[in-house]
Amino acid sequence: MTTSRHRIRVTVNGAAHEHEVEPRLLLSDFLRYELRLTGTHVGCEHGVCGACTVILDGLPVRSCLTFAVQADGHEVRTVESLGDDLEQLHPLQAAFWEAHGLQCGFCTAGFLMTLVPFLESHPDPDEGEIREALAGNLCRCTGYQNIVKAVQLAAAELKSD
Ligand code: FES
Ligand code: FES
Repeated sequence: MTTSRHRIRVTVNGAAHEHEVEPRLLLSDFLRYELRLTGTHVGCEHGVCGACTVILDGLPVRSCLTFAVQADGHEVRTVESLGDDLEQLHPLQAAFWEAHGLQCGFCTAGFLMTLVPFLESHPDPDEGEIREALAGNLCRCTGYQNIVKAVQLAAAELKSD
């Protein structure tokens, strides 16, 4: 049996990509295996943990629940778009570092990609709003307290810019 393939054009972290993909290919697998952007982690693979969260046209989505063909003509942003230079981290990354918002780090990319658009739309969030924003991301290490502190730190830092 032959499987049809579809040509997709997708912008990832500002770079244009054109690939032929099977219709069943998940966006998470496209990013990790075709583009080698392995910062996007895959945990549960069925939409529960949030580890695979990326930003699609400005909004956080589960890349394990999104087919690559659905990203055709759209813009994707992954954790690699933030910063990999310790001297030039995104304020959210710096705040996670500062407030010890991670331990093993497996969940962190998903948290960051959930929080980037959240802080853009909520520049002055209260604790309840932060906890609500984080409700779709699971972390088995931190107990969440330091993640909340990190978001508060990042919000303060972004406001002072
Ligand atoms: S891997 Fe996608 S939500 Fe868990
Ligand atoms: S830091 Fe380990 S799962 Fe969140």
